[in-house]
Amino acid sequence: MSQASRTQERLIETYRKKAKRYDIMSRLYPAPGYPQREQRLRAVRALGLRPGDSVIDMACGTGLNFRLLEKVVGPGGRITGVDLTDAMLAQAQDRIGKNGWGNISLVQADAASFDFPAEVDAILSTYALTQVPECAEVIAQGAKALDGGGRWVVLDLKVPGSTPGWLAQLGTATVRPFASIDEWMGRRPWEAIRAAMQEELADVSWTELFFGTAFLASGSRGPV
Ligand SMILES: C[S@@+](CC[C@H](N)C(=O)[O-])C[C@H]1O[C@@H](n2cnc3c(N)ncnc32)[C@H](O)[C@@H]1O
Repeated sequence: MSQASRTQERLIETYRKKAKRYDIMSRLYPAPGYPQREQRLRAVRALGLRPGDSVIDMACGTGLNFRLLEKVVGPGGRITGVDLTDAMLAQAQDRIGKNGWGNISLVQADAASFDFPAEVDAILSTYALTQVPECAEVIAQGAKALDGGGRWVVLDLKVPGSTPGWLAQLGTATVRPFASIDEWMGRRPWEAIRAAMQEELADVSWTELFFGTAFLASGSRGPV
C-alpha cells in the first residue's frame, strides 16, 4: 500500500470514529466559540443560488450545509453530497430522512476521482478541501463541470500569515489528528486552492476570515 493510500485509510478511520458525534463536536470546531455558522452562511450566500438550481456539496460529511442549501434551491432544486467516508454519509442519510428532503442524493467517492456531472450551477466545499492532496485538480475538474456563470466556493481553515510555526501547530493539532500537521502546514493547500481558482475561474475572490484562520474563496465559470 502506498503512503498516500495509508494516509487516506487513516483519514477514513478517523471520520468513522467521529461520525456519530460529528454534529455536536463540530460546534467546538476548530475551537469553542468559533463563528462556524456565520462562515457557512457566507459560503452559501457566495454560491449565488436560485430556486431550482443544482449544487454539489463536495466532502459534505454529515450534511451540515444541507438545510442552508435547501432554503435557497427549494424542492425544485437538486443537491448532491459527495464524501469519502461511509459513516459520515450514513449520518447525512439520517438527516435527509428526518427532514424528508427528496431532492438530495449522496455519492461515496474520493473528491480526487469524482466524475462531476455536467452543467451544475454551483459547487461548495466547507472545511474539507485542504485535506485532499489533489485539491487543485478537484478545483479544475469541478470548474469544467460548471454551467456558464456557475460558481465554485471553498471555505476552509488555513494558518494565519503572521502566526509563529509552533503556535500554528498547537492550534491545528486539535483539528488535524489524522494527518501530519507538518505536512499540512508545509503543503499550504489553501495556496494551491487559490492558485487553481485563479487559473480555472473568472471573478475570483479571496477573503480571509477570523484573523486569517479561515478563507472563503469563490469564482465563476465564464461563458461556455
Ligand atoms: C471536517 S469534515 C467537513 C464535513 C462538511 N463539509 C462540513 O462542513 O461539516 C471533512 C470531510 O471531508 C471528507 N473527505 C476528506 N477527504 C476526502 C476526499 N478525498 N474525498 C471526499 N471526501 C473527503 C471526510 O470524509 C469528512 O467527511
